[in-house]
Amino acid sequence: MATWNLTNMRKHVLICNGSTCMRKGGEEVTQAIRNEITERDLDAYVHTTRTRCNGRCKDGCVVVVYPEADWYFEMDEHRAKEMVAAHLENNQPIKEWIAYERSEEGMQLLNGRFKGTEKGEKK
Ligand code: FES
Repeated sequence: MATWNLTNMRKHVLICNGSTCMRKGGEEVTQAIRNEITERDLDAYVHTTRTRCNGRCKDGCVVVVYPEADWYFEMDEHRAKEMVAAHLENNQPIKEWIAYERSEEGMQLLNGRFKGTEKGEKK
């Protein structure tokens, strides 16, 4: 149990640890992100949270970065380390690996990703 002081937090990273993402390397991605954050001395500025399913299993392993609301897809250890360096340390999201980003109208689908079932529709 921990109660962190989040005063200096600049980024919040949600790392999907749902069952599909875990089959696609979710544990390795989690460790790679957390280790790279520590290596780069970013612990005071970046908070990470393991989540259950984020509802985009085809994009697994899913990682979401706030406050930008950038939804990364098909994350692996290599991509995880690159994302920490580019996005979390240098504030340069890697657009090629982002499935959804925030727009004026809401969320925008990028990179030809599978749109998925409309929210509120029967599957
Ligand atoms: S298990 Fe990660 S999006 Fe569903």
